[in-house]
Amino acid sequence: MIDKINTLLDEIKDLKAQNADELEQLRLKYLSKKGAVSLLMDDFRQVAAEQKREIGQKLNVLKTAAQDKFNELKESLEDHSDAGCELDLTRTAHPYRVGTRHPLSIVKKEIETIFARLGFSIAEGPEIEDDWHVFGSLNFAEDHPARDMQDTFFVQHSADVLLRTHTSSVQTRVMENTKPPVRIICPGRVYRNEAISYRAHCFFHQVEALYIDKNVSFADLKQVLMFFAKEMFGAETKIRLRPSFFPFTEPSAEMDISCNLCGGKGCPFCKYTGWVEILGCGMVDPNVLENCGIDSTVYSGYALGMGIERITNLKYQVKDLRLFSENDVRFLHQFKAAT
Ligand code: DAH
Repeated sequence: MIDKINTLLDEIKDLKAQNADELEQLRLKYLSKKGAVSLLMDDFRQVAAEQKREIGQKLNVLKTAAQDKFNELKESLEDHSDAGCELDLTRTAHPYRVGTRHPLSIVKKEIETIFARLGFSIAEGPEIEDDWHVFGSLNFAEDHPARDMQDTFFVQHSADVLLRTHTSSVQTRVMENTKPPVRIICPGRVYRNEAISYRAHCFFHQVEALYIDKNVSFADLKQVLMFFAKEMFGAETKIRLRPSFFPFTEPSAEMDISCNLCGGKGCPFCKYTGWVEILGCGMVDPNVLENCGIDSTVYSGYALGMGIERITNLKYQVKDLRLFSENDVRFLHQFKAAT
């Protein structure tokens, strides 16, 4: 009997189970009521009294060894099945990095919100335009350089189908179809045939504002400009208007704001002038009103236009325009919007 026990002990030491079925087979073979260990227990009754102590102890060792082996195999099977399981209930519920709004969208939205508070609504127009809406209606002379191939992208070599070079084209579209008063802003993308560099791109974004009504004056324009500058860049911001020329406004001006980096003291950003240019503006030229079917003896209005990239640069000091269209998330993730 001792030999039988020793043989079984050796057998048990080397037992292996690849899966739950094999493990169950081992349990039946060694540990069940009809298993090898139980059978030996039955045999034990016949053992002579003087051997009972020695064999009894040996049998107990066998029983424990069989049970331990079984537990060990069971545990290793369970460990193994866990390893293939990807479910980790301790992980946070939303491990994904949420995207951020594009800086140009943030600034566009901010401009829209400021003008919305002054009663301006948003108007949009096509990016593929015709000569009339981009140039003709806006009082551009036939030989104006902006109409040149160097500045404008023409579609399919047609002189009349082109990518809009400014959002002023939307002014015309709205004026053609709306009876004054008109109070709109036109945000959108524009295209120009420029070599791409850190300070110029072949596409960029503008917001145009237009107000047409009876008795609109330059003082009204100035008031809106001041409000916009202070809302956008802070209450301490000053503005200055310099005479300028645009075919579609008369008189025309360019607006500077006090440098928002040095507060007007002078720094490399404002080239030590204390001022930075942000937009063009003026009173809508009577020719433009007439071109759009609005009686210029009854109505007057102002218009202004700005580049969204320019405003964004001033707010966030982005030195290279190309960053806006490269979709590098390391750059984009630095911008956070409230909405
Ligand atoms: N359209 C002009 C541009 O693209 C910007 C502009 C200047 C718009 C003066 C205006 C304005 O409405 O009054 O450079």
